Amino acid sequence: MQDPYYKLLKKVAEINGCQLDLIIDHNHSTKSEICRACNSNNSKNIQYFLAGLKLQVKELRSLLKGAFANIDYSDRFTRTAYMLAYFPFYIEPIYYVTKSHINKLIKANTSEINICFIGGGPLPELLGLSKSISAKNNVSILNCSILDAFPYWITEREYCTKSLLEDYFKGEVGIDSLTFNLWSNNLKIPKEIHDADLVVAQNCINDCPKDKFSIMRNNFQIIWNNMKNNSSIIILDLNYNTISDLLKDLKKYFSQNGGEIVQDISRDEKRPNIPKCQHLEELLFEQTDGLLARRVVKYYSLIVKKI
Ligand SMILES: C[S@@+](CC[C@H](N)C(=O)[O-])C[C@H]1O[C@@H](n2cnc3c(N)ncnc32)[C@H](O)[C@@H]1O
Repeated sequence: MQDPYYKLLKKVAEINGCQLDLIIDHNHSTKSEICRACNSNNSKNIQYFLAGLKLQVKELRSLLKGAFANIDYSDRFTRTAYMLAYFPFYIEPIYYVTKSHINKLIKANTSEINICFIGGGPLPELLGLSKSISAKNNVSILNCSILDAFPYWITEREYCTKSLLEDYFKGEVGIDSLTFNLWSNNLKIPKEIHDADLVVAQNCINDCPKDKFSIMRNNFQIIWNNMKNNSSIIILDLNYNTISDLLKDLKKYFSQNGGEIVQDISRDEKRPNIPKCQHLEELLFEQTDGLLARRVVKYYSLIVKKI
C-alpha cells in the first residue's frame, strides 16, 4: 500500500503559504487503514487550511459530476482542491491498466523511455505508470513531456508530484512542459509526440466542452497519425457514455490505421490501495452532499499499439 497523504498534505499546504506540523509515525503499520501522519497533532493551522477549501471542493465536485466539465484550472484554490480530493485517487488506475501489458508496451533492454502526457496537469498518472514501468529493471530514465492547456500545474508538479515520485520509481525522471490545446481546431503536433514511446491521455477528455468534442476526436486521430511505429497510446477517463462512445470511435480508427489492440475498452471500478487521511476525513470532507469522502474510482480505458 502506498501512502501519499503525508507528503501531499504538507506540500499542498506549503504552496498555499501554510506550514503544517505533521509528525510522521515511524511505528505505523503499512497495512493500516489510516495514513502515517494522522497521529500527529491536529494543529490549528491544518483546521484553518482545510476549512477554507470546502467551497472549492464542492464546486469542483459538482463540475466533475457530469460530462463536458470544462474547468478553469487557472484558479489556485481549484487546483488545491483537485490535489486533495482527486489526485490521490488517480495515481493507481493507470497502474492497474498497464501492469499486465508492460512487456508489450516497452521493448526488452530499453533503458530510456519518452512519454507524452496529454492533459497531464498535476500528473498523478506518472506515479502509477512509473510503478508499472519499474517492473522492467532495465528502464532507468523517463523523459516526460506534459502537453496541457493550463501551464499553472507546474507548481503542483514541482512541489507534490516530484516529491512523491521516489516512492514509485527509483530511476531518473525529467519533466518538461508545453502549452497544448487538445480541442484546438488548428492543432500543431509538437516533436514530443513524434518521439514518444508512450502517449498518455488521462482524465482530460471529460474536460472538453460539448461543441468541441468532434474536433477533439479528430485531434486524437491526428496525434495517432504522428506517433512513431511501436509506440502506444493509453487513454483512461471517467465512466461516462460520452467517453465510451469516443473510445469506440477511436478504437475503430486506430485499428484501421495500423493499430494493434493491447487492452480493449474496459470499464473498471477500484478502491485505491491508499489509507484514509483522518485530517481530510474530519476537517475537509463531511457527510453532506458535495463533500462526501470518496472510496472508489470508476473509469474507462483503452491501450493501442502502432505497428
Ligand atoms: C481532470 S484534470 C486531469 C489531470 C490529470 N491527468 C489527472 O488524471 O489527474 C484535466 C486536465 O486537462 C487539462 N486540460 C484542460 N483543457 C485542456 C485542453 N484544451 N487541452 C489539453 N489539456 C487540457 C487540465 O489543465 C487538467 O490538467
